[in-house]
Amino acid sequence: METGLQGKTALLTGGSSGIGKGIALALAAEGVRLAIASRRPDPAALDEIAAAGGAPVVRIAADVSQEGEVVRMVQAAIAGLGHLDFYINNAAWTWHQPITKLDSNAWYSTLNTNLSAAAWATREVSRHLIARRSGGIIIIGSTVRFFPAYTETAYRVSKMGLRMLMQQLAIELAPYGIRVNMVTPGHYATRMTGGIAPEVEDQLRGLIPLHRFGDPLEVGHAVAFLLSDKLSPYTVGGDLVIDGGLTLNPLPLRTADEIEQLNL
Ligand SMILES: NC(=O)c1ccc[n+]([C@@H]2O[C@H](COP(=O)([O-])OP(=O)(O)OC[C@H]3O[C@@H](n4cnc5c(N)ncnc54)[C@H](OP(=O)(O)O)[C@@H]3O)[C@@H](O)[C@H]2O)c1
Repeated sequence: METGLQGKTALLTGGSSGIGKGIALALAAEGVRLAIASRRPDPAALDEIAAAGGAPVVRIAADVSQEGEVVRMVQAAIAGLGHLDFYINNAAWTWHQPITKLDSNAWYSTLNTNLSAAAWATREVSRHLIARRSGGIIIIGSTVRFFPAYTETAYRVSKMGLRMLMQQLAIELAPYGIRVNMVTPGHYATRMTGGIAPEVEDQLRGLIPLHRFGDPLEVGHAVAFLLSDKLSPYTVGGDLVIDGGLTLNPLPLRTADEIEQLNL
């Protein structure tokens, strides 16, 4: 299906690993010219993305937990690409601590990297897009915002905050023809989730009706859909959950064999 994204330009944070790399590959395949920012964007991943799109990728080293770095990042993307059509806020990290041990460093690191960075970046990008009277913004959320989990207070609060930030942006920018939407992934095997024990991963797989984790490219295709004015021109403030059914939370849990038995 024709997306109409060929030749558009996008700044993507955290785009050289995990879900961000899936987004980058999907957009590159549609002909979007990319600037990718993170603290240390992986050169090999950027080469792979450039090859997928047949165009060089602008590499920006920036720590998005610092407001000044975010401002510089947006300026570097505009300078490197000529202008921006899209911004995808994907970079995030998490520090795990129980409430009784929560320290301000971990709290502010998480909130600044995940939530404040999105506010600063979208402020900068919005000014540019408003002047152009077009564009799109995607915020990468997470299904973690639907449930609490032990030791993950700061991360889950940050993802809950992103949801309201997305809605605020959506109403304030829609009059300028700028569509803002969210993509909400479930569970994906990435560096961020790499510390999860195999037995917990098995438990998690059992909670997902599709019985598998997601593929970052599946998030990338959703982002391409939501950025495309051909495919989703009337979608504003939308939230596409891509979780294999995780948040349907079917209880009691049944194994794939038990479900087969139901249907014999
Ligand atoms: N994996 C999952 O199951 C899952 C589920 C739902 C939502 N998500 C969301 O998906 C997004 C990507 O996560 P992922 O799972 O793909 O993990 P990942 O591979 O660890 O990606 C995180 C990215 O963020 C960048 N980053 C982290 N801190 C940064 C900082 N201070 N400044 C600039 N960049 C920074 C990292 O690059 P550098 O190290 O080079 O800075 C990295 O590219 C996140 O928003 C996450 O919340 C993930």
